[in-house]
Amino acid sequence: MSDQALEKGQARCPGEPSTQEIIARDRVKAPQWVTSESYQFMGDEDVSVDRYIDADYAQKEYDRLWSRTWQFACREEHIPEVGDYYVYDIGKHSFIVTRTAEDQVKAYYNACMHRGTKLRPSGTEGSATVFRCPFHGWTWNVDGTMKEVLCDWDFPHVNKSEFSLPEARVELLAGFVFINMDKDAPSLAEYFGPEAMSHIEQWGLEDRYIVAHVSKIIPANWKLTMEAFMEAYHVLETHPQVSVSNADANSQYDTYGDHVNRFISSLGVVSPHHRGRYSEQDVLDQFTVGDASVLEGADRTLKEGETARQRMADMMREMFSKAADTDLSKVSDAELLDCFSYTVFPNTFLFPGISLPMVYRFRPVADDHRKCYYEVFFMHPVPANGERPEPACEEHLTEHQSFCEAPSMNDGFGAILDQDTENLLLQQQGLEASAKPGITLGNYQEIRIRHFEQTVDKYVNS
Ligand code: FES
Ligand SMILES: [Fe+2]
Repeated sequence: MSDQALEKGQARCPGEPSTQEIIARDRVKAPQWVTSESYQFMGDEDVSVDRYIDADYAQKEYDRLWSRTWQFACREEHIPEVGDYYVYDIGKHSFIVTRTAEDQVKAYYNACMHRGTKLRPSGTEGSATVFRCPFHGWTWNVDGTMKEVLCDWDFPHVNKSEFSLPEARVELLAGFVFINMDKDAPSLAEYFGPEAMSHIEQWGLEDRYIVAHVSKIIPANWKLTMEAFMEAYHVLETHPQVSVSNADANSQYDTYGDHVNRFISSLGVVSPHHRGRYSEQDVLDQFTVGDASVLEGADRTLKEGETARQRMADMMREMFSKAADTDLSKVSDAELLDCFSYTVFPNTFLFPGISLPMVYRFRPVADDHRKCYYEVFFMHPVPANGERPEPACEEHLTEHQSFCEAPSMNDGFGAILDQDTENLLLQQQGLEASAKPGITLGNYQEIRIRHFEQTVDKYVNS
């Protein structure tokens, strides 16, 4: 059947193995949540530009989207003990996320019930026995009940039982603390939907901890910035060094309900754009370049008939088994090697694969819809002895620094993030200069962007 005869959205990179065909050839087979597909055509109309460039649109997002969605506020390991807290801000909103019992976390609106002073400064975390306002000393217990009003003879109208700190909703999933300001929002399980929820649960992210946390201000709208990470279509042009060993144009894209989507981008396989130009040995050489320290001593010459992907899977399995002192013999080649990226609406990416386990979080900079705050968390498995190391502190980069300047950033990966984010100022400015009122998206490779923006529309327009 020619491509012309296909239904819209059914065309795939011609003449190439699909992600599932690549995965099916692997030696250690992948589980169902890796081998399933969930794509549907969602239209091919342009997506309006105003969402990226209009301050009024950003205000609508605060009023209707940020106030009604589940957001990753912190990890449980940020607040292991009762009284530990972490301040999470979104725009002008601010929350003290704190552990109130071994199995209970609460999120208080970070504002004094007297005259409104923030009880803890933004960007802070720590441990508290009480939350005491720095202005006149009104004080709350860790469980949010009111403890003390200075000169309470002057406040006969303050009934302590009615002055507990107001709370946002909190749910815990796989070590993540999610909060939601909307009392009527669906539960987190309903928000994810059963299939996406089962994927997240099976990746076992509760057994990871934060080894590095790097943040940077990006001079572009938060949605534009997120969308730079939702497709592999940009790999050839933006990351030419990667495309030799990345099946970029035959990556797989899936959507689940309104709030979760993903891609699987296979590694150790040559890009369809380079077909016939590189040998399997070239692919292996490209993939292992720069990883000298971790792959030290490994034999990097392929045997007759052996593929780069096969060898990479074997090397990764051995390397990560040793590093984590754990048995990975049954973990599939795909889970070890491939880039799995899930977007959890509105602002979180989970990369649960073994080789590059990360979480991204994106938030608008308050009062400036043309800037956002981008955080990268690297998440390693908790050591086999079960002792969970403290989560790494945040390393802040200025807008003009390279990601490579963060002390904990691997240079090769820092260069990739620089490539990803260097286009964004031009894209923000170009959208503002454009005579075209919408952006045009590919039906398959950019479905995550369409899916994400359709959900943005659902919130902003209701
Ligand atoms: S504003 Fe907090 S005690 Fe007065
Ligand atoms: Fe990229």
